[in-house]
Amino acid sequence: MDVKEAIEKRKSIRAYQARDVPKEIVLELIDAARLAPTGKNIQPLRIKVLGKATIERLKQAQVFPQEFVYTAPVILICYGNPDVYLEKYPDSTYEQNVLRTMRDISIQTAFLMLRATELGLGSCYIGRMDKEKAKELLGIPKSYVLAYAITLGYPAEEGRPRARLELEELYEELP
Ligand SMILES: Cc1cc2nc3c(=O)[nH]c(=O)nc-3n(C[C@H](O)[C@H](O)[C@H](O)COP(=O)(O)O)c2cc1C
Repeated sequence: MDVKEAIEKRKSIRAYQARDVPKEIVLELIDAARLAPTGKNIQPLRIKVLGKATIERLKQAQVFPQEFVYTAPVILICYGNPDVYLEKYPDSTYEQNVLRTMRDISIQTAFLMLRATELGLGSCYIGRMDKEKAKELLGIPKSYVLAYAITLGYPAEEGRPRARLELEELYEELP
């Protein structure tokens, strides 16, 4: 599968087979995120790879409002420490660095998602969650950015039809 095919094939998948995702595959995905570009090469993304026991703990605490999330064999919690930018931008504010963290984590996880598609996995970004509760349960400091979770598993559905803007709605040509 080439990149174009992976981009076209990827859809949010919200139903998974019971089959486990091998650790080597999860590491392949994280490696794709590792190789992605980031501002000043800061590479803020850190990932907690949740297995069944931790997913069950989050379920007990109702961290995610959507029940399907707890059925994923693996959940990746994508987070970062905004203070890592202070080295390169010493005068920056916490708020500026939160934005930088979100920006760079988004790029890194986009690479991860496409690799997941290439390897036959279904995935879904999960922004709907009680982030404060999740940070507390997973030992992530309050000042860190918890961008979102990503569910992973072998797909048990096709995904919803793709609804997208027309190409012309995305750009304007300037002389
Ligand atoms: C940052 C982000 C957060 C998202 N959060 C959720 C979520 O909490 N729950 C959910 O079911 N889908 C979530 N999605 C998936 C979007 O709904 C989905 O990407 C969009 O509808 C387009 O569908 P597609 O991914 O199948 O192309 C999220 C997507 C992104 C990029």
